Amino acid sequence: MKNEMVAEEIIKNLIRSAFEVRENAYAFYSHFAVGAAVLSDDGGVYTGCNIENASYPAGSCAETVAINKAVSEGARGIRAIAIVGGPEGKEDDEQASHVNDYIYPCGICRQVLSEFRGKDGTVVILAKSADDYKLYDFSELMVGAFTSEALSGPADDADDSAEQGIDPDDSAE
Ligand code: THU
Repeated sequence: MKNEMVAEEIIKNLIRSAFEVRENAYAFYSHFAVGAAVLSDDGGVYTGCNIENASYPAGSCAETVAINKAVSEGARGIRAIAIVGGPEGKEDDEQASHVNDYIYPCGICRQVLSEFRGKDGTVVILAKSADDYKLYDFSELMVGAFTSEALSGPADDADDSAEQGIDPDDSAE
């Protein structure tokens, strides 16, 4: 399914876009530069790089930046996301189009992506170059995401409560 959802040439273009935006990474502390490019269900392409901060937790991952850019421009479903990352190096041609390892999205980025899955799913593209990549369906990378369904109100019968691990006899007065 994941191979049919996005044409090979589109995958390669997303990888190239991820490499291009990776050059803007602000990885002052980790010196690990990441680029991401997302394709929305309506055909838009949005890119992001990691942006670090002296207060470390205030930094942002490349994937989250790209997804937030897409959503803030009105996109909702993400059909595909390409991710490239590795240690910062000299700005030579090799660096601009090739990294040594596949970079998996961190847990927070998986949660962010989970909110905006594409209408037919989301293909996650992990790339070393435009010719060396592997594909996952997002559902393979995230089991049991926390979703809006969990926020849809208290369970209205005891069986549901039990399934969610809530003791119905233990409700606050
Ligand atoms: N990083 C990303 O941008 N995406 C990931 O999925 C993993 C990690 C960034 C965060 C930080 O700026 C640097 O890589 C090292 O963790």
